[in-house]
Amino acid sequence: MQSLRRALADARNHLEAGGIDDAGLEAEVLLRHALDVSRPVLYIHLDDTLSTDAASRFETYIERRLAREPAAYITGHREFYNLDLAVTPATLIPRPDTETLVDVAIELAKGLQSEMREMLTIADIGTGSGAIAIALATALPRARIIATDSSPEALQVAEANARHHGVVDSIEFRLGDLLQPLTEPVDLIVANLPYVATDDYLALEPEVRDYEPRSALDGGPDGLDVIRRLLAMAPQRLSEHGAIALEFGAGQTVPLETLASKLFPAARTRIHTDLAGRPRVISIRLT
Ligand SMILES: C[S@@+](CC[C@H](N)C(=O)[O-])C[C@H]1O[C@@H](n2cnc3c(N)ncnc32)[C@H](O)[C@@H]1O
Repeated sequence: MQSLRRALADARNHLEAGGIDDAGLEAEVLLRHALDVSRPVLYIHLDDTLSTDAASRFETYIERRLAREPAAYITGHREFYNLDLAVTPATLIPRPDTETLVDVAIELAKGLQSEMREMLTIADIGTGSGAIAIALATALPRARIIATDSSPEALQVAEANARHHGVVDSIEFRLGDLLQPLTEPVDLIVANLPYVATDDYLALEPEVRDYEPRSALDGGPDGLDVIRRLLAMAPQRLSEHGAIALEFGAGQTVPLETLASKLFPAARTRIHTDLAGRPRVISIRLT
């Protein structure tokens, strides 16, 4: 029989020896999951004895983490934009970088809302866990949101997350390729689509390459295959005063700006940086 403190220290050492970054934090997250307790409760009870059942769950979680499974898939949760979201291997684990895309989308939506009399329609393309759509529905209660994905399993997770956060009535979930499920013009297209170049994808850390869906990450030879297809479809699906906000990766600023100016010569295009100061989002406003 061990105290929680001892179990935590041993697990941290194991994870560290297995080459896991942030071993202390990861051990704590997994112990809290084994005990189903919050952080403050864990710290109050650090000198309590770990029950046999919880010890066996914790051991399994540590083994899975040592096999490089991301902690978010082990716990089934990830926080995004202050929302606790369920995630499964069918969904990408939402990244903090994507919060920049949500901020840009909210700014664009508020600008559009102030110019429009009708209700704003926003499409989140490739919604995954529903992270972006749910964050937008929470921040913009007057908007109508359509969330699409080509993965039916991901859409199920997204819908359950929307229900959990009380916004399921503001979001319509549609299955299909990129903008094909949009049968009506939308005012704002927001998307965090696959944008990793295939060679970079193959060299990613095992947590990502071996566990997250390839269809959520691999964007073809230069990473821009899926985004290029979306941009080519967008003129037919955007309303007259519409806008687009897309997340992208390193080295893609210039090709995206060039593409945007070719497809939308009269639009106002801007690049937005993430919290680390890296170019991360392109916004394109038709008016
Ligand atoms: C990078 S993940 C983003 C998930 C979520 N929006 C987020 O930011 O956490 C990309 C998502 O796009 C979806 N996807 C990939 N190709 C697609 C396509 N052609 N049409 C619709 N969705 C697609 C994937 O299934 C995946 O859920």
